Amino acid sequence: MSDKNCVLSLDFHREYPRVVSGKGIYMYKEDGTEIIDGASGPVLVSLGHGNEEIADAMKEQATKLAFAHRDDCVTPVLEESCRLIVEASDYDLAKIFQVCGGSEATEMAIKMARRYHIQRGNAGKYKIISRWQSYHGISNGALAVSGFSKRRKGYEPYLPEMGHIQPAYTYRPWIANDENYAINCARALENEIMAQGPDTVAAFIAEPISGMSLCAAVPPEGYFEEIRRICDKYDVLLILDEVMTGMGRTGKMFAYKHFNIVPDIVTMGKSISGGYFPLAAVGITQKVYEGMAEKNGNFPPGFSWSGNPLGAAVNVAVMKYLKKHNLVDNCAKMGDYLKAQLEKKIMHHPIVGDIRGKGLMIGVELVKDKATKESFPMSEQVAFRIQEAALEDENMLIEASQGCNKGQAGDGLVISPAFIINKEQIDDIVDRLDKAISTVEKELGY
Ligand SMILES: Cc1ncc(COP(=O)(O)O)c(C=O)c1O
Repeated sequence: MSDKNCVLSLDFHREYPRVVSGKGIYMYKEDGTEIIDGASGPVLVSLGHGNEEIADAMKEQATKLAFAHRDDCVTPVLEESCRLIVEASDYDLAKIFQVCGGSEATEMAIKMARRYHIQRGNAGKYKIISRWQSYHGISNGALAVSGFSKRRKGYEPYLPEMGHIQPAYTYRPWIANDENYAINCARALENEIMAQGPDTVAAFIAEPISGMSLCAAVPPEGYFEEIRRICDKYDVLLILDEVMTGMGRTGKMFAYKHFNIVPDIVTMGKSISGGYFPLAAVGITQKVYEGMAEKNGNFPPGFSWSGNPLGAAVNVAVMKYLKKHNLVDNCAKMGDYLKAQLEKKIMHHPIVGDIRGKGLMIGVELVKDKATKESFPMSEQVAFRIQEAALEDENMLIEASQGCNKGQAGDGLVISPAFIINKEQIDDIVDRLDKAISTVEKELGY
């Protein structure tokens, strides 16, 4: 047990590196050791560490007005922040509700979907269908609609289970050898809506590009277009969870822009404040807004911190910084480079089965046998051992996960550096990863 401080850490037995400062994609320990942040924390620190423009904006707002309550007043900075997010969606979205984290955003999105149907006279529509191997947050409501078996395990039961369908996962499709996989995979939603009863289903929630549960799996072409068609047919709202993908990480402002659809509700977080303030948001289209506005035209639910000016000021500074430095474009270009370098330099490893993702969110799936795609048993902890080797031996942070193979096995890594990264730094990350994989491969007897 570590008794050195009063912090309740993830692993009670581990000595965590003590970091005291950061600049760009690097963090520094007390003794000056440099750690390269190949993960941006939990895919979050989008502008890198130590950005003075963002820190200055926060200080200025804190001095002017640190807090104002949504129930009582509105601030110009919140108006500007919401307007910039709407603009960033090319006006697909009409209204924005700000909260303090992705799980809060999921809870609020569910509540808004419910409100939309109640106000329009369809109070029986309350179920939220989601997908296995998905993640929408750690609060009990968000976990009930998540399908990340490993994160759900141990605390069940959650709130009522409302139905999960198969994920869109081209490396391990649940429907094998299906030439029409994208469409048939999406049609699982139609089957679930029919089985549950269309009059009871309020919304379908999904990550446009999967986060940690499937390590950056990109859906097959045509999948989300079919999902959109099914949602429209049964008056089911489409909620896309862009908490990890939003604000540029995949090379477009929102990941749904890679597909030919517009969702009804979009949640976003992490990169919307770049890690400088706990902030997330829910965006709704004009259609959802008008539905929610029917009858009494209000939406009372909120958290104490909802719409606070400090978070809004950070978001405004982040949005301006993204634009000024063309960082969404940089994500697309550097993302292509990162993926190409990983394919060139680590795909040869016997335990690397797949490299996938978009922009600066690239996943690596680890397998026991490349030809059969057999996964390692969970107990081998292969992804976490590579993560540990990367930190202990190579001074590099990366994200690791387990459970992408139907929740029972399947190790993966995610490389997700800050948007400001350059080619030399990517080369460095790939070299360090190559070494960390080799270390664990040797231990495993390859
Ligand atoms: C896709 C997705 N949704 C929701 C969440 C929950 O966000 P938070 O941890 O800020 O509550 C996460 C967190 O990783 C996420 O990746």
